[in-house]
Amino acid sequence: MLILAHRGYSAKYPENTFEAFVKAYEKGFDGFETDVHMTKDGELVLIHDETIDRTSNGQGYIKDMTLSELRKYNFCYKCKGFYPIPTLKELLEFIQDKDLLVNIEIKTDKIQYKDIERKVVELVEELGVKEKVIYSSFYLKSLLKVREISPQAYIGYLCENNYKKKIESLFQHQIYAFHPRHTYLREKNIEMLKKNKIFIAAWTVPNLKKYQRLKELGVDIIISNEYFK
Ligand code: G3P
Ligand code: CA
Repeated sequence: MLILAHRGYSAKYPENTFEAFVKAYEKGFDGFETDVHMTKDGELVLIHDETIDRTSNGQGYIKDMTLSELRKYNFCYKCKGFYPIPTLKELLEFIQDKDLLVNIEIKTDKIQYKDIERKVVELVEELGVKEKVIYSSFYLKSLLKVREISPQAYIGYLCENNYKKKIESLFQHQIYAFHPRHTYLREKNIEMLKKNKIFIAAWTVPNLKKYQRLKELGVDIIISNEYFK
């Protein structure tokens, strides 16, 4: 089972900052999960929310700001140092020479950024890290677009409610990876997914006990803020 650092090593470092990714690597995580949005000038940046209000000392939507405007803000204003917003390119360059996996969550469930899927996939391919990247999204259309652009890509359907309906679409679209909230993963649900040869990635696993249980039950990936092993 692989363990991915949720938004980087976010239990100890500011989420989705370069610091959080470097520390996750040093800690021994197998890779990272991160969230991608698109700026006004078409740059791919790593941040969870659609706005910078919660995680920086600025305010406003990513879609309304250019990368150079965004770079003025500190993405950990409570900390001592300055933590600029990272780009997807910077993170992918970091993993180029390392044995790390990156789960890129395409954050299109609230705002559908024009052509973001193509831009992400093309960047991944241009940097030669295709084998180290998996894609996920709560927004099914984004996953289907990724598959259209890159038919062999790993696409995982993120889910936190309406499980029955979402699993039906998973089967309908022949998607072979499911990324549910960890609370969904009771033994019988795991068995059903495994019987259907579905790869399982659980988030956000809260403690060692849960980590061990999911490992015993054969979950493939866990995504967590803290490192367990
Ligand atoms: O990819 C798993 C998890 O990150 C999905 O939820 O809200 O943390 O992006 P969220
Ligand atoms: Ca995420």
